[in-house]
Amino acid sequence: MSERITIARTGDIPEGRGLAVDVEGLCIAVFNVEGRFYAIDDTCPHAGASLAEGDVDGTIVECPLHGARFDLATGALLSPPADRSVTAYKVHVEGEDIQVELE
Ligand code: FES
Repeated sequence: MSERITIARTGDIPEGRGLAVDVEGLCIAVFNVEGRFYAIDDTCPHAGASLAEGDVDGTIVECPLHGARFDLATGALLSPPADRSVTAYKVHVEGEDIQVELE
């Protein structure tokens, strides 16, 4: 059974930017793409950089350290040097609350 946790408010994240949030022992990066919010694991599987600090291009984030790219909607790895995808979380916006679904 999944639960929804409020992890940020919509005004916390400027458009085209990410925010790293610690929640329930996870570090999740939340991104604002033209008013739509996406959430993936924050830690890059290559060498542990914070993906929330990466450059966002549409629904793609580029790791700030070595440039691996991930799809914000699915967490899929799009280009190396990382060698695996990250978890993507379902996002709901309730009023100004950004909520993620955790298993
Ligand atoms: S830490 Fe992300 S690509 Fe190296």
